[in-house]
Amino acid sequence: MTERLEADAAGIAQAAAVLRKGGLVAFPTETVYGLGALATDDAAIARLFAAKGRPAHNPLILHVARPALAHEFAAFDARAERLAAAFWPGPLTLVLPLRREAGIAHAATAGLDTVAVRVPRHPTAVELLEAVGGPVAAPSANRSGRVSPTTAAHVLADVDGRIDLVLDAGPVEVGIESTVLDLSRVDARILRPGSITRAAIEAIIGPLDAGETAADEPLRSPGLLARHYAPKTPLRLDAVSVAEDEALLAFGPRPLEGAGWTLNLSPTGDLEEAARNLYAMLRELDAVGARRIAVMRLPEGGLGEALGDRLRRAATA
Ligand code: TXA
Ligand code: MG
Repeated sequence: MTERLEADAAGIAQAAAVLRKGGLVAFPTETVYGLGALATDDAAIARLFAAKGRPAHNPLILHVARPALAHEFAAFDARAERLAAAFWPGPLTLVLPLRREAGIAHAATAGLDTVAVRVPRHPTAVELLEAVGGPVAAPSANRSGRVSPTTAAHVLADVDGRIDLVLDAGPVEVGIESTVLDLSRVDARILRPGSITRAAIEAIIGPLDAGETAADEPLRSPGLLARHYAPKTPLRLDAVSVAEDEALLAFGPRPLEGAGWTLNLSPTGDLEEAARNLYAMLRELDAVGARRIAVMRLPEGGLGEALGDRLRRAATA
């Protein structure tokens, strides 16, 4: 079975040892819990894909403790350097040309000539990565296609018995996955919106390619299938009324009335609070036995872009 350890010094040391030996360790990052495996270990990466039930064509994000370590396997241009200086450690993932000589497992990048990399800021993640030394591939620690975990209990609900251990540091800070920015081509492009917003990125490197996020372009980001982050109960977006046999995911000071079950992402209308609550509340409402989960409309700008993206994917049948 999967061991659950406090994220103290002893727990982190044990987790690092398990990773170095090729094991699978779930750990908190500031965004969501990740499921780590040593990125240079082919067998560990194969086990990671199997544990998640993840399709082999969907590449992983490599996590390192410090920006300097990312240069060993990824080729940074001036834009990448500026963005790393501005946002690392933090929830920004850069897709860059892969340095093949670095010995990253072929399967970790799904055989692509690019690699996704980030330096997380959660202290547990940083200490763990520092102790491991090398890059750790870490997708979100859920079964493929399911809602990402924001607590250790969510991790166990999905992958208990499939991984060696989970480091428990309580609920995460951001609550939705990192912004994924593709810098492998001349036109920089957001593949997955996140809490590092389009405006924040454009303030550093200028205008981004305006193209839709990559659901329409499977070859550019193989992982961004339209349906993702999905509870089992169907979702209905932009609800303006709600039925008794529906669960309501509300937002703001005036939740709709009449639902059999209601949770409010943020009674004060705060998007950061909504991001922190989104996945836990989807899991909770998924479990009440409602016919459908109705979701109130959220504001669109800033963090609203990422929240809208996750909700649309969760609602895609
Ligand atoms: O916040 C996060 O990013 C979390 C935490 C654990 O760091 N990780 C995460 O990983 O969300 P995952 O595997 O669930 O999502 C990674 C996304 C996928 O959509 C994948 O297709 C994309 O990044 N990706 C990875 N490598 C890529 C590449 N070389 N080119 C394009 N997209 C890539
Ligand atoms: Mg994921």
